[in-house]
Amino acid sequence: MKTDQAIAEAPPPSLVFRPDDPNNDLPLSEIQEEILDLKKRQDAVILAHNYQIEPIQRVSDFVGDSLGLSYKAAEADARAIVFCGVHFMAETARIVNPSTPVYLPDLDAGCSLSDSCPADKLAAYKAENPDIYVVAYINCSAAVKALSDVICTSGNAVKIVEKVPKDRKILFVPDQNLGQWVSQQTGRQMQLWPGSCYAHVLFTQQSIERVRIEYPDAPIVAHPECLQSVRDMADEVCSTEKMVHFCKDHSAQAFIIVTESGMIHRLQREVPEKTFIAGPTDFCACNECRYMKRNTITKLRDTLRDLTPEITLDEELRAKAEAPILRMLDWSR
Ligand code: 13P
Ligand code: SF4
Repeated sequence: MKTDQAIAEAPPPSLVFRPDDPNNDLPLSEIQEEILDLKKRQDAVILAHNYQIEPIQRVSDFVGDSLGLSYKAAEADARAIVFCGVHFMAETARIVNPSTPVYLPDLDAGCSLSDSCPADKLAAYKAENPDIYVVAYINCSAAVKALSDVICTSGNAVKIVEKVPKDRKILFVPDQNLGQWVSQQTGRQMQLWPGSCYAHVLFTQQSIERVRIEYPDAPIVAHPECLQSVRDMADEVCSTEKMVHFCKDHSAQAFIIVTESGMIHRLQREVPEKTFIAGPTDFCACNECRYMKRNTITKLRDTLRDLTPEITLDEELRAKAEAPILRMLDWSR
């Protein structure tokens, strides 16, 4: 018989998504049908991040990573953009497409990484280091973007940093883990802002080692926001979008996916013949971002129906924040 302590210390069982899962082909629910109808009537486009819940991903026009979503937002030709992601993503859509109203189903869908770099602190740092070149990961507020020289996403960070003039000292904000990884990839020294994603740092060497022992043949695919000890165990470190291509092209049949677990839905749809194992933390079989998960299917329906809540932005700030995003879009083509 197991003692209470043994039960408390037992590792969580792995969460495995297989091709033959009967949930993979569920018909659309009534509320999803309603959303498709409202979308048509409002002439709206729904953009969703890869971490959104599966019922939202299924009714969206485009599901992708921050980079892909930025391009889609800039190109959107509709009367409204409903953004299913977190606040900085919807704000970015607003910045790059100022003529189209942008709605976010829950305005409290924030981001711990974005919060870790307040604009007044960055402004103070810049005042003391006037020659610094600021590369900002897109997971930051419009006010931080406005203080930056160029923006990057996890999908293009290496490319962007490689394009920064060689004679400039770089400050990378706000993610120290992504920054460290980019520095290792490019050989470029950078000062790193001490921010991190609360969800990705929950993956540990120990939690990933446990799942690797269970699935020794499954390649490990990790997001660069993970700690170095976890990235070092990975066969591939990449953005959520690149995860789809990696798993499609690789000969393996099963993969351990070390990022927010909503990613598995996208992978299941795009690579239906393969098996995906959610990267566990020390406490849980999967890892959900509490901010991403604030958007629900009901809130999405209500947003489409009532066209609220809307993302608003002062025009002067929007224009200042747009310049480094346009530089990124240009440099990463
Ligand atoms: P991606 O751009 O790779 O999708 O990452 C966004 C994000 O918020 C990761 O936590
Ligand atoms: Fe922010 Fe982390 Fe959530 Fe991504 S997963 S939105 S970085 S808190």
